[in-house]
Amino acid sequence: MGRDTVVLGAYFISSILFILGVKSLTHPDSARRGMQMAALGMLVAIVGTLFLHEIVTFRWIIIGLIVGSIIGYPLGMWVPMTAMPERIAISHTFGSLAASLVGVAEYYNAYNLAPAHGVAHIEMAALGLEVLFGSLTVTGSFMACGKLQGFVTEKSVIYPFQNETNIGMFAIAVLMFFYLLVVPGAQLVFYAMVILATLLGVLMVLPIGGADMPVLLSLFNAYTGLAAAATGFALNNYVLIITGALDGASGFILSVAMSKAMNRSFTNVLFGAFGSGAAAAGEARSAEGLTVKPITVEDAAMQLAYAREVIIVPGYGMAVAQCQHQVRELSDLIERRGGEVKFAIHPVAGRMPGHMNVLLAEVDIPYARLYGMEDINPEFNQADVALVIGANDVVNPAAKDSPGSPIYGMPILNVEEARSVIVLKRSMNPGFAGIENELFYRDKTFMLFGDAKDSLGKLISEMKNV
Ligand code: TAP
Repeated sequence: MGRDTVVLGAYFISSILFILGVKSLTHPDSARRGMQMAALGMLVAIVGTLFLHEIVTFRWIIIGLIVGSIIGYPLGMWVPMTAMPERIAISHTFGSLAASLVGVAEYYNAYNLAPAHGVAHIEMAALGLEVLFGSLTVTGSFMACGKLQGFVTEKSVIYPFQNETNIGMFAIAVLMFFYLLVVPGAQLVFYAMVILATLLGVLMVLPIGGADMPVLLSLFNAYTGLAAAATGFALNNYVLIITGALDGASGFILSVAMSKAMNRSFTNVLFGAFGSGAAAAGEARSAEGLTVKPITVEDAAMQLAYAREVIIVPGYGMAVAQCQHQVRELSDLIERRGGEVKFAIHPVAGRMPGHMNVLLAEVDIPYARLYGMEDINPEFNQADVALVIGANDVVNPAAKDSPGSPIYGMPILNVEEARSVIVLKRSMNPGFAGIENELFYRDKTFMLFGDAKDSLGKLISEMKNV
């Protein structure tokens, strides 16, 4: 069996594993297996690649493996779930940096290594896309990571003619790309395009406020995939084309789904104009003059113990408090007393897609008990208690009735329709979008202040005595 057959066979097997892996990720029950299949696919692809004729020495590959493991292991093992969006953003930076560097190196070699063979028109299309989207994603993802981590201001940075400038720069970069298709040897244009795209990545993210970061991240996911697929065409590498296409397509689908969940127009997303303009500039509702009603653990436990239907609404605070085990225990207690418990999952609750699903799956809450927004919203008016655990923006009625609010138009969970709403949080601090939540001041809402894990622990002990 020749080397080429080994490589092709490995790529074929890994592509199948990637496709099955992505398919398995569509359901929480099979998601873990999906990740394992995809990881195995990656291993098979790497081993297969080592058989390529082009590899003349393993020295740099071994160095890369060591450096990659030193960076990758801590990223995988020690980054907490709550910092996952930042981790994903930095992974996109690395992935797109790799694609851009490969593109630049290929181009440089084609014109500067003797004998210089130049770049064919068709190859230029792949190289151009690779460096254009790759460079844009390198700085864009890095900025997104900075905004999430706090080393770049998370507020929208807005200045006059911003959209016009960004769109203009993007148009110039695209024109340069087309020029290179006709004249691939225009080296100055090539490097100017790389610099322009790198700069555009920074400028594109500046106007975007923290609340819109999830859509941006999945969009960069798509760009990274696009750059990887283009790298595959440039290097004639099938597995890169397939994985890049999978990554790119799933990133775009996710971006569209998230824009829908946050009521953002996808055109705005593409041009980085969202999070700015009238909506962001609008005033959030003031809570001045309004008061909240704190509730004691005893009273909260009493309400839960006698409720027939309880809808639990988890949010980012559940991830921070890491109280999913207590959530499970409380829901078991309610059920043992004859109540029914359902979980309302907002598509952007937490800080990454599927964040709540992952945490609840960790404590074996059956998938059938998790309800998406459309399915659970009509049920709130029949619920005795809506128990909000560390959620804020996803239950903020301002999204429905406050046109000036930055989150106006975002579909939310209708918790205020339940007979009683109990909110577990530590203070009156706002959530991710940084705005007041009028729900907390409504007549039917009771606040149980404290760390959610502590509060749930106390609720559980109290429920056992009711
Ligand atoms: P948030 O609106 O961020 O609110 C979380 C609440 O949890 C805060 O009000 C906080 O109040 C409370 N909290 C934090 N730690 C707590 C603890 N230890 N115990 C009890 N409460 C605690 O969360 P959400 O409702 O899940 O909404 C998610 C937001 O993140 C949306 O704006 C969404 O657009 C954005 N976002 C989502 C994603 C994805 S893909 N899911 C990614 C990035 C951003 P206290 O500080 O007073 O306790």
